[in-house]
Order: sequence, then structure tokens, then C-alpha cells
Amino acid sequence: MKLVIAGKGGSGKTSISGTLARVLARQGRRVLAIDADSNPNLSLTLGIPSERFNSVPTLPSNLLQRTSEGVQLSKTLDEIRSSHSLEGPDGVNLLVMAHPQHAGTG
Ligand SMILES: Nc1ncnc2c1ncn2[C@@H]1O[C@H](COP(=O)(O)OP(=O)(O)OP(=O)(O)O)[C@@H](O)[C@H]1O
Ligand SMILES: [Mg+2]
Repeated sequence: MKLVIAGKGGSGKTSISGTLARVLARQGRRVLAIDADSNPNLSLTLGIPSERFNSVPTLPSNLLQRTSEGVQLSKTLDEIRSSHSLEGPDGVNLLVMAHPQHAGTG
């Protein structure tokens, strides 16, 4: 199952995403949560302290390669998960796409 949550600012997207991810992980499912927000805060909802979140390297730009077959990942998903994700207290893996360059609202 792949689930994307998008919508109006401040409408509860992060709260719902984090809660769903934690419930599914508690049920024994493998959950990979990806925060694509430019001001990411899903880690807090998942129970991951900001110090741990800030210490993880962000995804490299050469991760996607164009081939005659289309765009493909240059590493396996398991390799990406082990080098670029964090595990929260319920077993949710959070993929870190980018860290904010400066403080902001939201
Ligand atoms: N069901 C709810 N009842 C009351 N408050 C809620 C509920 N869901 C979320 N909130 C609160 O509303 C605020 C916005 O929630 P959240 O950060 O999840 O929204 P968002 O859509 O991710 O926002 P943004 O667009 O800024 O990323 C937070 O302070 C959150 O604690
Ligand atoms: Mg949000």
C-alpha cells in the first residue's frame, strides 16, 4: 500500500500521516514514512527527537538515474533505508529527504 497525504496548510496532514504510520507499524506492517515537506516535522509525530532527525544525511541528488527505461533508483530501497532513514519507537522508518536551511513557520 502506498499512501500520499496532501492538502491545505495546517489541516492536520502531518498528524494524520504520523498516526496512521504508527498504528500500521504497531500492527506489524513494515512502514516507510517519507516527509517531503520543505519544513519537515513528521519526525516529532513519529516520536523521533529532533537531534536524531538532524543527524541523518539527506538524500543525494544522484539517487535517480535516467535510463532508456525511464527514471530508476541507483540503489535498492533497502540500501537507501539503511543509510538514510531513522526508526521511531513504534518501528516506523522515516526517510529524510531534506533538512530546512533556516527557521520558518508551519
Ligand atoms: N484532530 C485534531 N484536533 C485538534 N488539533 C489537531 C488535530 N489534528 C491536528 N491538530 C493540530 O493542528 C495543527 C496543525 O496540524 P498538522 O501540523 O498535522 O497540520 P499540517 O497539515 O501538517 O500543517 P502544515 O501544512 O503546516 O504542514 C497542529 O498544532 C496539530 O497539533
Ligand atoms: Mg505538516
